[in-house]
Amino acid sequence: MQDLNELLAKIGEIKAEIEAGSAELTTSKAVYEFKKTFLDSKQGKISALMKEMRNIPKEQKQDFGKNVNAAKEWALSYFDELDQKMKAEELRQRYESEKVDITMPAKKVKYGNLHPITTVRNQLSDIFMSMGFDVFEGTEIETDYYNFTALNTPDDHPARDMQDTFYLSPEFLLRTQTSAGQVHVMENKKPPIKVISPGKVFRSDDDATHSPMFSQMEGLVVDKGINLCDLKGMLTMFSKQIFGEDTKTRLRPSYFPFTEPSVEVDVSCFQCGGAGCKLCKGTGWIEVLGAGVVNKKVLENCGIDSNEYSGFAFGLGLERIAMLKYGINNIKMLFESDLRVLDQIDD
Ligand code: PHE
Repeated sequence: MQDLNELLAKIGEIKAEIEAGSAELTTSKAVYEFKKTFLDSKQGKISALMKEMRNIPKEQKQDFGKNVNAAKEWALSYFDELDQKMKAEELRQRYESEKVDITMPAKKVKYGNLHPITTVRNQLSDIFMSMGFDVFEGTEIETDYYNFTALNTPDDHPARDMQDTFYLSPEFLLRTQTSAGQVHVMENKKPPIKVISPGKVFRSDDDATHSPMFSQMEGLVVDKGINLCDLKGMLTMFSKQIFGEDTKTRLRPSYFPFTEPSVEVDVSCFQCGGAGCKLCKGTGWIEVLGAGVVNKKVLENCGIDSNEYSGFAFGLGLERIAMLKYGINNIKMLFESDLRVLDQIDD
């Protein structure tokens, strides 16, 4: 470079180059890199102009310096402004992409819940366990002996007709009642005995309130001096806990081969309080379970001295309790896994 005129022309070129080049820039990082090509102290095009000073005639040196400095100042503030604009735009874009619309309805999180039968079983188990009952789970496949014979229901006994049985072979069957577990428990444990036994049972029976597979919970207490009053007292406590504090219980005579005397247990209707409604068919009472004093013959079949010990047993249907509690009028609804039904039942 020879003189001031040439410098001014060069400065003009550089400015034009900066203005044209910066139009292409889209990020603050690119602005930073572009700025370096002009202002970097070693390689920058404006910084390089200063080094030309030595070739300039003496009398022009002062003006030359002033012009180069002015160009540098201009470039610095030009890039500053550009950098600020770029950063502001970047921030705006970030806010835009991370925007949360707090007025939007929240997404519903769907939690699973336990099946009503599981819920009822857990609730009943909790109540009985708090009274000191152990839990015994029998098997779904049983022998004819445990399901019937040991329970005082021999081959030709008419009570076998009370339950339509699925036989797997002449000896094996799908248990028709959890009562089969009573015999296993009494064979294996000396009194005092206090167990509940929940599980699936099977009967060839199928209508709105019966299903070929359903669930029962058996209860068995054997000790010295156990009688029907103990049964009634315990069932009253149990009914209050499951159906409400005001619930009353009553016993009606019934028949089961393995209990003597046998009873059906009713609870006062928890919907109308006993006045009579659709649920209790106007009677004020709802039948919930079968029970009785353990038949001496059953104790003897299991090797327990019936002169020393006595006991009571009861058996209830879990589907029936669930249907009553949740107002379900067809037992099939409990087995169809229809979420429209199950979603409404959450205890
Ligand atoms: N096992 C009887 C039934 O399924 C119920 C029951 C159990 C009755 C225990 C008396 C004692 O119908």
